[in-house]
Amino acid sequence: MQAVAPTSHVDALQRIRATLGPAGCIDAPEQTARFLTDFRGQYRGATPFVACPATTTEVAQVLALCNAARIAVVPQGGNTSYCGGATPSARGDQLVLSLHRLNRIREVDAANFSLIAEAGCVLMNVQAAARSVDRLFPLSLGSEGSCQIGGNLSTNAGGLAAVRYGVARDLVLGLEVVLADGRVIDGLSSLRKDNTGYDLRDLFVGAEGTLGIITAASLKLFPQPRTIETAFIAVPGMQAAIDLLARLREATGDCVTTFEYLPRIAVEFTIRHIPGVSDPLGVPHPAYVLCEVSTARHDPHLRGLLEDALGAAIDHGDAIEATFAESISQRQALWRLRESVPEAQRHEGASIKHDVAVPVAALPAFLRQASAAVAQVAPSARLVAYGHVGDGNLHFNLSEPAGGGDRAAFLALQQDLGHAVHACVQEFKRSISAEHGIGQLKRELLARHKDPVALAAMRSIKQALDPRGILNPGKVLPD
Ligand code: FAD
Ligand code: MLT
Ligand code: ZN
Repeated sequence: MQAVAPTSHVDALQRIRATLGPAGCIDAPEQTARFLTDFRGQYRGATPFVACPATTTEVAQVLALCNAARIAVVPQGGNTSYCGGATPSARGDQLVLSLHRLNRIREVDAANFSLIAEAGCVLMNVQAAARSVDRLFPLSLGSEGSCQIGGNLSTNAGGLAAVRYGVARDLVLGLEVVLADGRVIDGLSSLRKDNTGYDLRDLFVGAEGTLGIITAASLKLFPQPRTIETAFIAVPGMQAAIDLLARLREATGDCVTTFEYLPRIAVEFTIRHIPGVSDPLGVPHPAYVLCEVSTARHDPHLRGLLEDALGAAIDHGDAIEATFAESISQRQALWRLRESVPEAQRHEGASIKHDVAVPVAALPAFLRQASAAVAQVAPSARLVAYGHVGDGNLHFNLSEPAGGGDRAAFLALQQDLGHAVHACVQEFKRSISAEHGIGQLKRELLARHKDPVALAAMRSIKQALDPRGILNPGKVLPD
């Protein structure tokens, strides 16, 4: 920590440069560009330079200097999030702090089913570290090759295995966090039980960098699955999918690990745009479920249980037909189809995304109501409502009308479409952001939809932990 407070912004920035050295500062415009635009290209910012600390101590030194000089800090992980949370303002006075050099796996403890990873570890590398000791770290997202565990925790990411293992919050045992003034909370506990006062860990998970910088995390591991069955199932629609989920959970002794809903249009998009993806079933169907069931023991009966349950579902009209992955490469192909839906949707032109959650059983009614509501506003927009229905989480996305019509006219409807969708969500009293967070995109929405008492409590927490407001200002909390 610096003994003497910086005298000005310029002085503080110079001292940060001196602290981090050339390897820890990125200046060249061609190198900073990727840190200054969000993944969807919706926001563009500027920064004096990109600060890249390599240790927790360096993060603490940077924050102490920034706090003293009141310089805003925008933490950034893999920069794959959807709400502009990691992009600085265009004024050029906010310092981007990239965590990518904090990328060590500090400890892997197979016996304790835990590991400690630094914030900048790419999710895929955390999964690999767990696998290296025959354990599973189950968080799984389409962006896992570039998002970082610090970003995953800061957005409380969900992904494709949450139906079984929970969201990022459920997978963390402890955190190391640098506070706004540079002090470090050493909370890297690997304990399963610790009732010693307020649970600070949970404050930082999902805070999108507004309360502290996560520098390392102690994470929960699980036994590696020994038996995995992956099926691609055609279904008549959402109600059938939800009934099928209950049936499969019961029949397999709650072994459903993944349950992802895909309308036909999502499958068509991937076949059209993603090289190597083909229709897993010969003829088109209204909708599909990518379902995976797994157990941590060798279980020769699991396939039979799944087939019997699917047979009963077909007899009952909850499923039409199904195909199973018979090899690792077939399994990977089915996952690739699902995981590349966002990319395929990008190839279809502009899209407007809504990331909503309602109780699982309410999904069919929500889908009916919200589809009718958006059809009133934008009759020719193409609805691509897919996602993690096992968690009640739909990506209720709209693609611009086919044939590339008037893109500007479509995008001009963004607000009206949002109102229509979120009014339906409100009716079910559920979430306007299930897993993608708030960032800068949904701040005003949060103001309208969040309980005002909860919002006031959030502001008090922010004031207590970051009294000078240097941590990711302009994100999450409405003005
Ligand atoms: P960033 O985008 O860099 O940052 C996200 C937020 O966290 C920002 O507010 C940033 O300031 C803050 N932050 C980052 N690191 C830290 C830190 N160390 N300390 C404090 N604050 C920090 N999301 C899902 O939930 N489920 C999905 O299934 C899913 N699928 C996706 C598929 C694709 C193809 C893509 C592109 C994205 C997907 N996402 C999904 C969104 C995104 O990948 C997640 O939100 C991810 O968790 C973001 O991690 P990141 O490292 O990229 O964070
Ligand atoms: C996904 O589940 O594919 C993403 O979270 C949603 C998206 O990219 O729109
Ligand atoms: Zn998702």
